[in-house]
Amino acid sequence: MDTSLSAPMTTESPTSKDSGIYLDYNATTPVDPEVYARMEPYFKEYFGNPASAGHHWGWAADNAVQKARGQVASLIGAKANELIFTSGATEANNWVIFGLISKLRNENPYEPIHMITSCVEHSSTMKAMEAAQKLNVEVDFLPVNLYGQVDPEAVRKAIKPHTKLMSFIWVNNEIGTINPISEIAKIAKENQIYLHTDATQAVGKIPMNVTELGIDLMSFSGHKIYGPKGVGALFIRSKDPKVQINPLIYGGGQERGLRSGTLNVPAIVGLGFAAEICQRHLYTEAARLLSLRQLLWQKLQVAIPGIRMNGHPTERSPNNLSVTLPVKTDSLLSHLQKLGVSTGSACSSGAMTVSHVLRGIGLNSDQAQSTLRLSLGRWTTENEILRAADILQNAIPKKIV
Ligand SMILES: Cc1ncc(COP(=O)(O)O)c(C=O)c1O
Repeated sequence: MDTSLSAPMTTESPTSKDSGIYLDYNATTPVDPEVYARMEPYFKEYFGNPASAGHHWGWAADNAVQKARGQVASLIGAKANELIFTSGATEANNWVIFGLISKLRNENPYEPIHMITSCVEHSSTMKAMEAAQKLNVEVDFLPVNLYGQVDPEAVRKAIKPHTKLMSFIWVNNEIGTINPISEIAKIAKENQIYLHTDATQAVGKIPMNVTELGIDLMSFSGHKIYGPKGVGALFIRSKDPKVQINPLIYGGGQERGLRSGTLNVPAIVGLGFAAEICQRHLYTEAARLLSLRQLLWQKLQVAIPGIRMNGHPTERSPNNLSVTLPVKTDSLLSHLQKLGVSTGSACSSGAMTVSHVLRGIGLNSDQAQSTLRLSLGRWTTENEILRAADILQNAIPKKIV
């Protein structure tokens, strides 16, 4: 196995060397130049509409979409016809929740609906669940342990006779913790409840086979796996059980009537090829990123006394390091301009909002405001990790270190 720390696998880094060190791959990834090259002809000579069934412009576009569907299916262990392209994971997460409510209400407007989720979901699930509550859907937001994991036994206990959906994030976007999705899937199956997972930060980073795991619905996104923004997919299981949700977007009947709208062919081609590259390098890249992350953590522990890591020590995505520093991050930002990282709090309209995920794992407001997420990716090198550790050490006031 190639675990070389400094040799990213494909072309030269698209993250410009002069503009600093990009460690925010969980926010978004650059499009892999090879992916971009595959997309380009679909803006130009192959511009056809895949729904145009009567000429070769349409056929060329349709063939490209079908190829991409196969590439994505192969990465996650699904059948090609179980994938519907969306505008991203936000749409897919919303679709699952409102598409199921719509289906159930059509069948029986009076039957109560209960859904189970957690308090550390991405906002696209959290906010959609809150909106569902306003439609008289009962929702339980389960607490998590100190690492950010849902307890499968707590899931079992939360089930009610009218529970119709469980939705849990697979890999947490802020703290990297991996949820025990396989155990939760068994509980969902025993109770004949649909299990949806937001796998936006899991796909392409950890191996998976949705068919074997018994996942019913799964959302993910192109721009977290070196594909373009504005494209993603929803996996909808076709057998054992055949999952049924109503469309969220109605119109010309594309995607077998489940998601109307002219397909974004270049982006779909990009998502497909991005999936193929991820699959090719899944294990070697995970090992490389894990070594780099461990190196970063070793360096930071020595350089910054009092630093602590958030999330699970081992059950975590290889590319994520969330740390709480002995100082608030807003005091460091001027020093960190050349370091592309995320903070655990944001200032909106003059008020400080603190991450619900960090609160969910028990951090207080000061700790959340002292938290940084460093997320590594395809073009991160050993040299960048060493420089990033230096930058952080130098940013912390000397009386603290
Ligand atoms: C876990 C998770 N879910 C959903 C999303 C939203 O994805 P998209 O940008 O494709 O809508 C993100 C992106 O930050 C994410 O990390």
